[in-house]
Amino acid sequence: MISGPSGTAPAPLPELPPAFSLIALDSVGSTNDEARRLAEEGAAHCTIVWAGEQTKGRGRQGRSWTSPRGNLYLSIVLRPDCAPSEAAQLSFVTCVALGEAISSLAGSRVEVTYKWPNDVMFNGKKGVGLLLESKSTPAGRVDWVIVGMGTNIEHFPEDARYPASSLRKEGAPASLVPATLLQELARQLETWLDVWRKRGFGDVRAAWKQRVQGLGRAIEVRLPNETLTGVFGDLDRNGALILTFKDGRTRTITAGDVFPQS
Ligand code: BTN
Repeated sequence: MISGPSGTAPAPLPELPPAFSLIALDSVGSTNDEARRLAEEGAAHCTIVWAGEQTKGRGRQGRSWTSPRGNLYLSIVLRPDCAPSEAAQLSFVTCVALGEAISSLAGSRVEVTYKWPNDVMFNGKKGVGLLLESKSTPAGRVDWVIVGMGTNIEHFPEDARYPASSLRKEGAPASLVPATLLQELARQLETWLDVWRKRGFGDVRAAWKQRVQGLGRAIEVRLPNETLTGVFGDLDRNGALILTFKDGRTRTITAGDVFPQS
């Protein structure tokens, strides 16, 4: 049972497609850690761990993810039977599914865009963070992938590295709450996982590119030890960013933080 935003009324449980199983926790350290534990115990493809709040939420690059009640925190266990080099494509599959779900529920006041690699933006401000973790088998195939998603519905951090916002602040209707978003996300995820499995990454990549910020524009990419500037040339066939420098050389970037060039 998950308490409502103020810790009072319990939220209704979402109805998910039959392929999904849901573990709903009122409070947990990190849904990614819980999903990982369950994956190691053999949890099935499309097991979702959803929590009302997280006490040790994790972000990318070892950062923490503040997780007060009222936002949507979940991690999904996927067993895609693919090569490890293809696993990152699943973060784009889930990003597109979540973007479509939010877009269909949030109304016309919220423009949903993406920021490489996997942020979903509400009117240009960060509203969602995705954290992908995976493990391979000794035979060199993917054993499990966990995609963790934190969506700012009621709250957002005021002091984030990149300006952030929430669906409520941007004008989403009161009917959009964690349970309704989770229900629509699962519906979209079923569709997009099917597209990816049957047709490969091409359609997912095309859908992601339709909403991405900064494609073809000057950007700054902050890496742990250097900052690069160039043009966001394209997304490669595994989801890496292709940065084109002034002299026409390119560099393929698999992890980093993107900012519009100042
Ligand atoms: C980012 O740094 O942008 C990624 C943030 C990912 C946060 C989500 S919330 C649900 C899941 N559990 C975690 O501990 N992290 C992810």
